[in-house]
Amino acid sequence: MHPALQSIRRRIVLEGPLTVATVMEEALAGRNGYYRDHDPLGPEGDFITAPEVSQMFGELIGLWCVDTWQRLGAPEHFHLVEMGPGRGTLMADALRAARVSAAFLKAKQLHLVEINAALKAKQAERLADHHPTWHESLDGVPAGPMILIANELFDALPIHQLQMTAQGWRERVVALDGEHLQFGLAAPSAALGLLRPAHKQAVDGAIAEVSPASIALVDAIAQRIVTEGGAALIIDYGPAESGLGDSFQALKRHKYHLPLESLGEADLTAHVDFGALAAAAVEAGAQVFGPTAQGDFLRALGIELRANMLAQKADAATGELLHAQVHRLIAPEQMGRLFKVIGLAGPQLDSERLGGLAGL
Ligand SMILES: C[S@@+](CC[C@H](N)C(=O)[O-])C[C@H]1O[C@@H](n2cnc3c(N)ncnc32)[C@H](O)[C@@H]1O
Repeated sequence: MHPALQSIRRRIVLEGPLTVATVMEEALAGRNGYYRDHDPLGPEGDFITAPEVSQMFGELIGLWCVDTWQRLGAPEHFHLVEMGPGRGTLMADALRAARVSAAFLKAKQLHLVEINAALKAKQAERLADHHPTWHESLDGVPAGPMILIANELFDALPIHQLQMTAQGWRERVVALDGEHLQFGLAAPSAALGLLRPAHKQAVDGAIAEVSPASIALVDAIAQRIVTEGGAALIIDYGPAESGLGDSFQALKRHKYHLPLESLGEADLTAHVDFGALAAAAVEAGAQVFGPTAQGDFLRALGIELRANMLAQKADAATGELLHAQVHRLIAPEQMGRLFKVIGLAGPQLDSERLGGLAGL
């Protein structure tokens, strides 16, 4: 039995049924969790992310960072922060493209927020020339203006599931039935306080998902850029507006599984509620840009133009590959519509938009 599953079972025996958030936290980021010690990315792993699909993704984000730095008044020193940098692919591609501005490269200090030892080793290899500093959480990043990137981090942050019943909202919990884990219902936790106006329309059986961890993180990011200056770009999959529905899922070897089936051995994710992130950032005083569908964002940054330029210099097979990669990133039935992009900036930013993103 996977050690993460063992510790979840032990906790249920000792503490009683656990919330979905506690199970997710323990299975992913607990001492023996899925994200602690191995590389889950790539064709031989469990899933592929946009920077692993095409180098154009990271390159365009690198140019977005240079443009945003200029809009912020080109501070002489700033922290370039990536949270959950995976194999370091996005940042390596971004910093290569950022060579268009020697001043940007000179001004940046690179910080990586990562909890996975195997991925940290890969990031160290890829990004050695840029002398990164690693942190377990955003709190470790020193004060000062920052530009922060997070691609597919928020979907791994724990969610609570609340279910509407004839008695009102109940918390979805995970209990033991003999040897098997199963869902049950219990009195709602304090997460109830995070329900959004759209959740009020719930009928019997409807599920609402709220993520105190995501709200706390976006609040921390927003507060920092409000007080210290800077901007953030968050990319992930989920709806632009809060809504109802069960999006808790497991991904293993590129296939969806029932979430309680392979705890510790599969990625557990939930859709990111961009409506809730935007509201929390506004409450913290930040300016919000988007959310915008990833396809529209990348198109506005010129991904098709870039692919055409690269294809002109390449052989026919490489040209086809480049166009297939762009299709995967921007087509609505691929990653173009489900994935959203949101930008945050401090009040110091004097601009009606950030690259590819209009003001809220
Ligand atoms: C789905 S991967 C995305 C990787 C990369 N951003 C990409 O697009 O290829 C999630 C990343 O977040 C990291 N991660 C997961 N939970 C985290 C947490 N609580 N704090 C910091 N990093 C975390 C993982 O180790 C991994 O690097």
